[in-house]
Amino acid sequence: MEVLVTGGLGFIGSHTVVELLEDGYQVVVIDDLSNSSIDVVDKIKEITGKDFVFYQKNVCDLDALDMIFQKHSIQAVLHFAGYKAVGESVQKPILYYENNLLSTLHLCQKMLEYGCYKFIFSSSATVYGDPEVLPLTEKCKVGGTTNPYGTSKFMIEQILKDIHVSNPKFTPVILRYFNPIGAHPSGYLGEKPNGIPNNLMPYIVRVASGELEILSVFGDDYDTPDGTGVRDYIHVVDLAKGHLCALKKALGEDGVFVYNLGTGCGYSVLDLVHNFEKVNGVKVPYKIVDRRPGDIASCYADPSLALQELGWKAELGLEDMMRDSYRFILKQNEK
Ligand code: WQD
Repeated sequence: MEVLVTGGLGFIGSHTVVELLEDGYQVVVIDDLSNSSIDVVDKIKEITGKDFVFYQKNVCDLDALDMIFQKHSIQAVLHFAGYKAVGESVQKPILYYENNLLSTLHLCQKMLEYGCYKFIFSSSATVYGDPEVLPLTEKCKVGGTTNPYGTSKFMIEQILKDIHVSNPKFTPVILRYFNPIGAHPSGYLGEKPNGIPNNLMPYIVRVASGELEILSVFGDDYDTPDGTGVRDYIHVVDLAKGHLCALKKALGEDGVFVYNLGTGCGYSVLDLVHNFEKVNGVKVPYKIVDRRPGDIASCYADPSLALQELGWKAELGLEDMMRDSYRFILKQNEK
């Protein structure tokens, strides 16, 4: 069975392509390399020993989508392609809304034209905004987003529900990621943001490897156990496996489905720093600085619905995430 993976060379997309290939799916990847690199194609083939089709195209390109749907019998789409830097989205809202919304609208338009109805969407816990209650369930209020990135995800969730109303065969499975970190245990795939990392984990690993001098901890005066921000970190391989369970669900029935993909455990910034140091036997120097504007104190999932309906739950723990993240950066630096 052929599935189309947009953004399939990116951090989460590439890990999901590995799991899809290992589960026997035939994979077609479309990626414009705006936030990924071409060497990931060979890395995926090396890990899995399997081949797949890759098109260096932009998902907004209607002709490219026509070509793919005409050449391949696509039974489902996993849609990862999109801009995802929160801070950048505040500076460049038009770019974010145009890219994230238009790519999805064109993709859905072509899917319906070619009779492909199964759509797995990469959404985000950001759609919950600042949580009123914790842990977050899928029934919690959404829409209080505080940046164009999160708002674009919220808007797309609404668009997908509206398309289902217009055509009940169209089946979106909306996956709200919490904080994906870690790397494939082979060390061949991982998170490689361009430039200075915005997110915590890529910053920690670069301080540990000596590439960056010191970690700035954005505030230690939150209402949390140690005053630093608490998040639900989930191993990217667990997240990838969640997509396979979501795909099987979509292939089995029509409807609209929404799931939190998190571990249900909240860890603070200093929890990660101390755990990383213990697991990898390295120091991560840090300093406490002011809060980052727009940050919330705590956010973690109630992932029980995904277990109940998808038979999925995260298996890997914080130590796996710390070890795998560091192995990846060390392999990168070996080159
Ligand atoms: C985590 C914690 C920071 C960097 C973002 C997006 C979200 C999702 C995941 C896409 C917070 C603290 C961070 C640093 C720090 N992405 N921190 N020093 O903000 O929870 O979520 O990434 O879906 O949409 O919003 O992740 O890693 O940036 O921050 O102290 O240098 O680490 O304050 O408490 P965040 P993050």
